[in-house]
Amino acid sequence: SSIQAFRGALLHSLADPADVGDAHSHEYFADGLLLVQDGKILQAGPAADLLPQLPAEVAVQHFPDALLCPGFIDTHIHYPQTGMIGAYGEDLLHWLNTYTFPVEAQFADEAHAAEVAEVFLKELLRNGTTTALVFGTVHPQSVDAFFSAAQARDLRMIAGKVLMDRNAPDYLLDTPESGYAESKALIERWHGKGRLHYAVTPRFAPTSSPQQLDQAARLLREYPDLYLHTHLSENVKEVEWIKALFPERTSYLDVYDHHGLLGARSVFAHGIHLCDGECQRLAQTGSALSFCPTSNLFIGSGLFDLAKMEQHGVRVGLGTDVGGGTSFSQLQTLAEAYKVGQLRGRQTHPFKLLHLATLGGAKALYLDDQLGNFLPGKDADFVVLDLKATPLIDYRLQQSNSLEETLFALITLGDDRAIRATYAAGRCVHQREAS
Ligand code: GUN
Ligand code: FE
Repeated sequence: SSIQAFRGALLHSLADPADVGDAHSHEYFADGLLLVQDGKILQAGPAADLLPQLPAEVAVQHFPDALLCPGFIDTHIHYPQTGMIGAYGEDLLHWLNTYTFPVEAQFADEAHAAEVAEVFLKELLRNGTTTALVFGTVHPQSVDAFFSAAQARDLRMIAGKVLMDRNAPDYLLDTPESGYAESKALIERWHGKGRLHYAVTPRFAPTSSPQQLDQAARLLREYPDLYLHTHLSENVKEVEWIKALFPERTSYLDVYDHHGLLGARSVFAHGIHLCDGECQRLAQTGSALSFCPTSNLFIGSGLFDLAKMEQHGVRVGLGTDVGGGTSFSQLQTLAEAYKVGQLRGRQTHPFKLLHLATLGGAKALYLDDQLGNFLPGKDADFVVLDLKATPLIDYRLQQSNSLEETLFALITLGDDRAIRATYAAGRCVHQREAS
């Protein structure tokens, strides 16, 4: 079918700068053309080369004062927590009991779930996030509501029903058998439909019995290409609790490992307090971590060690972890990731930050054959960053002498105002109102 053409400055990641050096980690076309067909990237390159070959009937959409980048990828977020973002909590376990569980109870009502799913997806798209790995609640209808809303926009999304059979209020508990059966029904209904994928989602080891973790592994064995999504080693008290609950296991990760939950499509949020052995095991099994800096700072969980994970060869994506995290914006989340690096004594290069929010996220989700940059055949999910988004950004970027300076200033100063438009499968799914 027909070709779409988008003209503007194009920037995308080709690799992690840690592996190839800054110069080869990305590609930039100051005056570029992005060609899209059937929702996929056909080609990206200099406008001067591509325009002459373009059939005359193709209308070119022009984006002046903008930077077109691949859509952002959020590797860990809770849609039911949208309405409690910024809740005043002491630490993780207090925050969960006081704010999170009562809010999640409301998702027994599918109409409520549908309403929140709409607010959530609009907010993601307003912030340029086109793919996310998403927690539901224990209620299967929370996942039906979310996938329905994502399907209506043809988004690539991964989600799952929470499995939780202990150590939470009764009104939020399932059982190993009901959690298995409800997950199975959701997988049959949604997994592989359009661009939707299912993630088996035990909340975290403290709220699942060993029997439930076994049922989670059973689902992973029964269906190909399922994800496993959970939390790992976020908080010191949580790690202590694991030792008491699973005295026979050698570490937090060993609990998941023992139950057969590690692998290339397993994504663990946080991973702050891991020992070397756990990092090695993550790398060996190809399991990924989601780095959630705004959440880790806000809940006071600790400072993620990106350099250490890199040394161990663990894949890492970026997560907002809303509502523990405080922003839907991957730009703000990158800025906080940079600051966490600073406190760990390491600067994170702007092109590395770009990689983290795009291609790195795609790799962490095992979707880099479909997402993460502008190579031909990938999904045409992209954002139009506004270089004049605010008076300060406009003024700051006028002083910029390089692409990396511009990118870094956009990251440190940018938020939803910097997203002029968002495209999914070549369709405009968000356009900022004129200011
Ligand atoms: N650990 C278990 N559940 C949660 C949650 O909802 N948010 C965060 N940040 N950590 C968790
Ligand atoms: Fe979380």
